[in-house]
This record gives sequence, C-alpha cells and structure tokens, in this order.
Amino acid sequence: MTVPKSSLALPVPTVTICLVLLHSCSAQLRAQLGTTPNIKQIVVGRCYNYITLINPRLRCDCEAIWRQFEEAVMRQSSCNVTMEDYHDMFNAVPQSWPCDRFLFWSKTRTLMHSYAAVVRDVWTLEDTLVGYMFNDLIWCGQEDDSGFDFSSCPEWSASRHHPVYSLWRQASQNFAEMACGNITVLLNGSIVNAFSRKSSMFGSVELDGLNPQRVDYVNIKVVTNLEGPHLESCSQGSIVDLLQLLQSRGFRWTCSDNDQTLMILQCIQDPQQSSCQTCGNSLLDRKGLLSVEDSVGSGEVQ
Ligand SMILES: *[C@@H]1O[C@H](CO)[C@@H](O)[C@H](O)[C@H]1NC(C)=O
Ligand SMILES: *[C@@H]1O[C@H](CO)[C@@H](O)[C@H](O)[C@H]1NC(C)=O
Ligand SMILES: *[C@@H]1O[C@H](CO)[C@@H](O)[C@H](O)[C@H]1NC(C)=O
Repeated sequence: MTVPKSSLALPVPTVTICLVLLHSCSAQLRAQLGTTPNIKQIVVGRCYNYITLINPRLRCDCEAIWRQFEEAVMRQSSCNVTMEDYHDMFNAVPQSWPCDRFLFWSKTRTLMHSYAAVVRDVWTLEDTLVGYMFNDLIWCGQEDDSGFDFSSCPEWSASRHHPVYSLWRQASQNFAEMACGNITVLLNGSIVNAFSRKSSMFGSVELDGLNPQRVDYVNIKVVTNLEGPHLESCSQGSIVDLLQLLQSRGFRWTCSDNDQTLMILQCIQDPQQSSCQTCGNSLLDRKGLLSVEDSVGSGEVQ
C-alpha cells in the first residue's frame, strides 16, 4: 500500500525538478550564444588531433595559429572583424591538401555528411585544418579588449564583419581557390533559390573563387527531400542561372536531379517514405531509366 502512495506523491517533486531543469536549460541556451566555452582548448586540441592523427604529414605550429586567431578577434569589437584580419592566421596554416574531388554544398549539410562518409576521398571545407578546428564553434571579442565575450555574441546576420562569418568566408574562398579536377556541388531542390548569389557561401564566395583553368568539371547534384517539395531542378529555378553563369565563365559542367547514391542515403535515413518502399527491387530495375534521366544537361565550352 505504500507503493502507490509514494508514486502518487511523486508528481510534485518531479514538477519542481522539471521547472528547475527548464530554467537552467534556458540559461544555458542563452550562454551558448556567446563564445563557445573552452574554445582555446577545443581549437588547439583539434589542431593537434588533426596534425597527429588525421594528417600526420602536415607540419604546423598549433599554438601559433591560436595566437594569430586571438590577435584577429581580440583587438576588435564583436562586429568588426574582417576577412583581412584573419590573413596572418591563415598564413600560419599550411595549405596542402589534394585539390581534386572537392565537395561544395549549400543547405544540404546533413545529407552532405552522409554522402562524404560513403563516397570515399571527397573533401569538404570541414576536412581542411581550419574547417576542422573551427567547425560548430562560436566566438566574438569585446570592444574593451578584455578577451572573448562568453556571455553573448551578435547573430551572424547582424553584420558583414561578424568574426565567425569572416573566418568562414576567408576559409571558403581559400578552399574554392584550391579546387581542381572534378568538383561536386550538392544543392537543395526543396527550397526556393537553391542557388543564391547573395545569401549562400557557395554563391557569394566559393563560385567566384573557382578557376575554370584548374577545374575540369563542375558536377552539380540537385537533391530534394523525399517527401518534397520539388521546387528547383537542373531545368527549373535558380539552378538554371547557375548553369548559365558557369557556362559564361568557361566551366564544363554536368547537372543531375536524380543521383542514385543520394536517394539511397535519404532512404536509409527514412525508409518509411513512399518513394523508398519499393527501393529493394525498383531502384535497381530503374537503373537504366535513372541513368538516362540522370544527366539532364551538360555543358562544354569548346
Ligand atoms: C573597425 O576596425 C577598423 C580597423 O580594423 C577601425 O578603423 C574602426 O574604427 C573599427 N570600427 C569600429 C566601430 O570599431
Ligand atoms: C533542404 O532545406 C530544408 C530547409 O532548410 C531542410 O529542412 C532539408 O533537410 C534540406 N534537404 C536536403 C535534402 O538537404
Ligand atoms: C569528371 O566528370 C566528368 C563529367 O561528369 C566525367 O565524365 C569524368 O569521368 C570525371 N573524371 C574523373 C577523374 O572523375
């Protein structure tokens, strides 16, 4: 008889605990908008991890990179860090990675990660040393030069010279300038302006950094959510503008709307989708059909 009594008594303390948890959670969420706690240990640790375990041939001074990073961020107000401010830091970073098989993406981050994991040897920005070191971190300085602001940082959109935005712009530009051979671009056909010249890193920075003399093919893969909407494709919407732009700048390109690998990856994550139900037989049966549909268009200059 004591058991039901105590379980009846439970709700009251539980509610109290929940409220306390909720309260501390929202306080934590606010704090997360500031510089990521332990940022120095994370950045320097990731750097050592990278040059020791991931790419042991790379030689660089992780502490020096950190010092240059601090230099760039600390002496500025939180909305006043330009790409140029990071130049000394980037100069301390060795830029030696294979230029081939670069993968660019816009608004397809989750799928990009699965894709990069199964298609071997593709390189994304996050695989470079700088990309690896600063991935998912937030930082900003304070005007009075007393270090990082751990309590709050402005939104990315607040300023063109946001310290996080400026670092990624510079990193993206370097990455694109390095690209050669065949490159792949993953775009999201379920949104309007899958290719955005203004608001995407690919459209505003990386595209301009690509060199048609170094790049053999720009292979674009448009991918929509399995459940739709199917808003843009190789022959519809902003992607058509991208293809025209590539053409006019002398790039050779291909564009596909139905990449089989990407579709299978989506089905693995969400097998209940109706377009995946027949996956077992029909993706293979339709292989011939898919590869015909696959390349909606390709362009070649000369
Ligand atoms: C921004 O930085 C530049 C030089 O780095 C400086 O001249 C300017 O006064 C700064 N502006 C603000 C608002 O801090
Ligand atoms: C496309 O973008 C939407 C909105 O950002 C997102 O929810 C969706 O997961 C993206 N689709 C793919 C295939 O990446
Ligand atoms: C580069 O892309 C083109 C067009 O998709 C393809 O024909 C060619 O085989 C690719 N080359 C390499 C080395 O992957």
